[in-house]
Amino acid sequence: MSDQAKDQANKLRDMVRKRETAAIAAKERPSSAARVVTITSGKGGVGKSNLALNLGIQLRKLDMRVAVIDADLGLANIEVLAGVIPKYNFGDVVNSKLSLEQALTEGPMGIKFLSGGAGLTTLARLTDKQVMAVIGSLRMLDDMSDIILIDTGAGISKNVLSFISASSETLLVLTPEPTSMADAYAVVKSMKRETEPMPALKIIVNQVSCEAEGEEIFDKLNKVAEQFLGLQLQSLGSVPQDPCLGRAVKRQEPLCLSYPNSEAAKSIRKLALKLLNMDPEKSGMAAFLRRLSSGLGIRPV
Ligand SMILES: Nc1ncnc2c1ncn2[C@@H]1O[C@H](COP(=O)(O)OP(=O)(O)OP(=O)(O)O)[C@@H](O)[C@H]1O
Ligand SMILES: [Mg+2]
Repeated sequence: MSDQAKDQANKLRDMVRKRETAAIAAKERPSSAARVVTITSGKGGVGKSNLALNLGIQLRKLDMRVAVIDADLGLANIEVLAGVIPKYNFGDVVNSKLSLEQALTEGPMGIKFLSGGAGLTTLARLTDKQVMAVIGSLRMLDDMSDIILIDTGAGISKNVLSFISASSETLLVLTPEPTSMADAYAVVKSMKRETEPMPALKIIVNQVSCEAEGEEIFDKLNKVAEQFLGLQLQSLGSVPQDPCLGRAVKRQEPLCLSYPNSEAAKSIRKLALKLLNMDPEKSGMAAFLRRLSSGLGIRPV
């Protein structure tokens, strides 16, 4: 080979190596966009708020930066369960009294809490410009979090559907009670009808007597969804009925901190691990806000 040909071959090899290194770096570079995960249910009282809080704790233990938004407009539950007293809520951001950063409360293990308060209902009554300014401020959460968990009220109100359709993933919680199963199916049906594209839907069966019961309940729901809606659901797993949870609620301490070795805490850790493996693609607060604003019938951010 001539010197000139060798020179060209070396240059080519160098170029390929540089491209490969750049491709690997791009793949491994952490994206600043957080995953936005909405937690919902058909029937009330199935364990959503406890799951949101404790999933948050387990994700923190896995070194994820977590923010929890309490979007249950009726009851500010999470703060009670976590034993924190937030001074402010999202309403203060909506009224331009505070920045989002000031409205956040630091919870156990450094979880960031945002209490929805009246702010989220007021959102619909603001002008487009005000709404854009307010929800634009939520973008800050993208930089401070890897995962944003949104705890909603039960049922399929317009508000809850807005959150569901704006998120990239929805965790639907149900229990082995037949009414809970019927109500969960109603949520799946509404999601199919009202959301486009439909966010990834993952099922959690709470308060099971054993893992096999959780699998059985999931299979039943999945079969009906497949038969009548043509949908294939994904299971995130189940959490057993555990007396430690009631005790933790009374102590106003998250179960995964007060009883870290309880069966329920161990199962929630499995859910957290599965959540991280299942969908590593982060879709981001910006995407969430775009979908939320279009759901509210206003121009995209
Ligand atoms: N795995 C479990 N084991 C034992 N008890 C549980 C479990 N999960 C939930 N509970 C009980 O159910 C109660 C309601 O839980 P939680 O407040 O989390 O439900 P929710 O779905 O958020 O309710 P709501 O629809 O009112 O917001 C808890 O206080 C606890 O007593
Ligand atoms: Mg709740």
